[in-house]
Amino acid sequence: MDHHQDRLALPVGTTLDRFIMRKQEDFPYATGELSQLLRDIALAAKIVNREINRSGLIDVTGAYGQQNVQGEEQQKLDVIANIRFIRALRNGGEVCTVISEEEEDMIQTGKNQGKYVVAIDPLDGSSNIDVNVSIGTIFSIYRRQSPIGQEGTQEDCLQKGVHQVAAGYIIYGSSTMLVYTTGAGVNGFTYEASLGEFFLSHPNITTPQSGSIYSINEGSANSFSEGVKQFVQYCKDQNFSARYIGSLVADFHRNLLKGGIYIYPATAKSPKGKLRLMYECNALAFIVEQAGGKASNGTKRLLEMEPTSLHERCPFYIGSTDLVDKAEEFLTKESSAVPVDEQA
Ligand code: AHG
Ligand code: MN
Ligand code: MN
Repeated sequence: MDHHQDRLALPVGTTLDRFIMRKQEDFPYATGELSQLLRDIALAAKIVNREINRSGLIDVTGAYGQQNVQGEEQQKLDVIANIRFIRALRNGGEVCTVISEEEEDMIQTGKNQGKYVVAIDPLDGSSNIDVNVSIGTIFSIYRRQSPIGQEGTQEDCLQKGVHQVAAGYIIYGSSTMLVYTTGAGVNGFTYEASLGEFFLSHPNITTPQSGSIYSINEGSANSFSEGVKQFVQYCKDQNFSARYIGSLVADFHRNLLKGGIYIYPATAKSPKGKLRLMYECNALAFIVEQAGGKASNGTKRLLEMEPTSLHERCPFYIGSTDLVDKAEEFLTKESSAVPVDEQA
């Protein structure tokens, strides 16, 4: 096709499906199951995107009237997204077991030949659903450790973040995007609703080494530890911008592209922080590292944390490497400080 024709009818670009297929060709022994699994997730994302976009028009906003296992009020869309993703994963057949923020126990798909386990936060940022603010989905994919042919086990689900084979998120924002990694860089795709396809829009995302955005819920500042308080003060002294949407995916996505740090620290109300290691932190930690950034629990590499239960929480420091290093520096000073009641 000559240049002239290109100008008359611009090429639409690379679809997610084609991109996944091409990547698969880089691995000569790949069987295509992971590729299929990623496509299943993309399909569920399109359906959830549809439900979200018309949520103001049909009766799917507001509370569902039940609490989830974490004692949090479930929104109708939390429940709908949970059903949609689990159904897509079950139908796909590549996944033996799913764990979800919205379900107390492991979900066995009945597809015991499946080689993979998925951890998912089907809808992140629930408090923003009813007010038309960006929300998201977060997922992690692990290879099962137990032999195929039987149900997945707790050990299959409770693997360290370093063992993820893929992770990603969908942001339902001013546009809908899917961002994922399989451990060879991070790529972002934007949804073109009229064609029903995700197109590669952000190839090879890298995050700035440093940045000038800090994202933390300062309403809880009274219960921050000394180290966190001092780090927040440091951000102010540097004239950083404070940005906090209250949807982790949206806060993370902005900082990934622009440079910055997101923190959900331990507080008096949530001594281990609020965010869940398996459904939220690990996936974003894998992505940020693949983009050249850093994620920590304040003192230690997040991906190295040994999970002990499905729904456990952990303090979360993630973003540009220089800023996470700086936060860790304040936290280390704090932990080596002489406790107040022992001071002379
Ligand atoms: P979820 O909607 O999946 O329960 O997650 C909500 C999380 C996260 O998205 C957000 O960053 C955080 O809660 C906000 O918490 P605060 O309101 O305490 O700041
Ligand atoms: Mn969440
Ligand atoms: Mn959620």
